[in-house]
Formats: sequence, structure tokens, C-alpha cells
Amino acid sequence: MAFELKQIVPWGRSFQEYVDMFALSEDDLTKPILGCGDGPAGFNAELTRRGGTVVSVDPIYAFGAEEIRRRIDETFDEVMRQTRQNEHEFVWDHIRSVGELGKMRMAVMRDFLEDFPQGRSDGRYLPQSAPTLDFPDDSFSLALSSHLLFLYSGHLDLKFHIEAIAELCRVSEEVRIFPLLQLGATPSLHVEPVTEHFRAASYEVKRVHVPYEFQRGGNQMLKIRKVEQGLTADTLDGAAEG
Ligand SMILES: C[S@@+](CC[C@H](N)C(=O)[O-])C[C@H]1O[C@@H](n2cnc3c(N)ncnc32)[C@H](O)[C@@H]1O
Repeated sequence: MAFELKQIVPWGRSFQEYVDMFALSEDDLTKPILGCGDGPAGFNAELTRRGGTVVSVDPIYAFGAEEIRRRIDETFDEVMRQTRQNEHEFVWDHIRSVGELGKMRMAVMRDFLEDFPQGRSDGRYLPQSAPTLDFPDDSFSLALSSHLLFLYSGHLDLKFHIEAIAELCRVSEEVRIFPLLQLGATPSLHVEPVTEHFRAASYEVKRVHVPYEFQRGGNQMLKIRKVEQGLTADTLDGAAEG
């Protein structure tokens, strides 16, 4: 049976994985960034140490560090078991084995848990849930969604995706979503209708290849930007990469 989960789980990727998944440049990392559904990822902690400006939102931030640690521990065995059962769905290139994956993820999540109390009191970890975000328009330059939208297409319907992305576009100049696959490493059925919806609403939507592939075939992100005044979506489509 392909990789599947009953619910959306807290699971955390590293700063470097975020950089690769979203093809973040040095310049991108100087901009105000929103991470939507960052969970116990290491991106916020590490970018903050590097002097960046980042806010993460996730419903799990309503809980304390101990409760989140307990949820991670409950999740860990199930994710490892399913990864072992479905090893063929992944590319064992940078991460060479299921054991190494487990060690790497737990190190990242421990880093998050250490940073969480300070980050929460600094307002870097906010308990908010897409599709309703409590920020003024254009608060961020970049909004990133890793392993939530599209990945959980079986849990979150097309309406949720459209509302969540519209809200991310309201609060941020540009939105990047990775991966375009769902659990089981098959293409998400929501990618095409989302692309059509936002192009029809005059947004620029591009599929961009990125230097990251762990789920087999998961090496593209979706970039969605408001079209600048004076340019039409059609003009920009001509310049889009495949
Ligand atoms: C699989 S984790 C991914 C964590 C991180 N982005 C990464 O890639 O390492 C998915 C996260 O999405 C969060 N989540 C679930 N529903 C959400 C919603 N409506 N808005 C924001 N985050 C949500 C979960 O709590 C969980 O922490």
C-alpha cells in the first residue's frame, strides 16, 4: 500500500531543505518570510540565527513544547514504518537510508523544540491556520508552504487550496508551494485547477524545477505572484519556465 496518513502530522525539515525546496537565493533570505504550516521544521530557528525575518504559522503552536514533543514521538514510528514499507517512493541520494532520515528529522525537530519557547514569545511562531490568517495585506515578501498544500490533497479539498492560496497571496507578494505531489508520490489533482483559477484571476503562476527531490518525482514548486500593474498575466506567461 502506498504511503498514506490518517491526519496531517507534525514533521520537520531542515533549513537547507527549505532553501533547496524553494530555491531560495541569498536575496530571498533577506526578505520578510511567512512559513505556513511550518510545524516542527528547523527553518525559522536557523534563519533567525542567521539574522533573517521569519514568522511561522501552524495550529500546533497553540500547544506547549512538551505537548508538541509528545505528538512528534507518537508520529515518528508510524512515519518511519511507512517510509520503510514504501522506500521505492523516495530518492535515497542525499539522505541514504531510512535510519539516517530518522536521525536527521529528529535533530531538526529537537532544534525547533529548543527554539520554540523563545520564538513563541518573540511572535515568530503563531498559532494560526490557513485559510484565515491574521496579518494585514502585503505583510511579507515571500510565503512558503512546505508539505501541507498539495501533499495532503486527500485531506484538503480544492476549495481549501484555493482559499488558502488566496489568503497567502493577500498577505505576501509571492507564494511558493512545495511539493506538487501528494502522499504516495503521485501528482496532486489540485495543481492544474489551482493554476487555472489563479491565472484566470490575473496572477502569474509558474511551475519551477528546484534542486531538491526526496519524494520520487517531487522536484518542482509552484510560484504564484500578483501581477504588477501595467503587466498582464498573458505577457508574463510567455516568459514563464516550464
Ligand atoms: C507535514 S508537516 C510539514 C512541516 C514543515 N512545513 C516541513 O515541511 O517540514 C504539516 C504541518 O501542517 C500543519 N497544518 C495542518 N493544517 C494546517 C492549516 N490549516 N494551516 C496551517 N498549518 C496547518 C500541521 O500542524 C503540520 O505541522
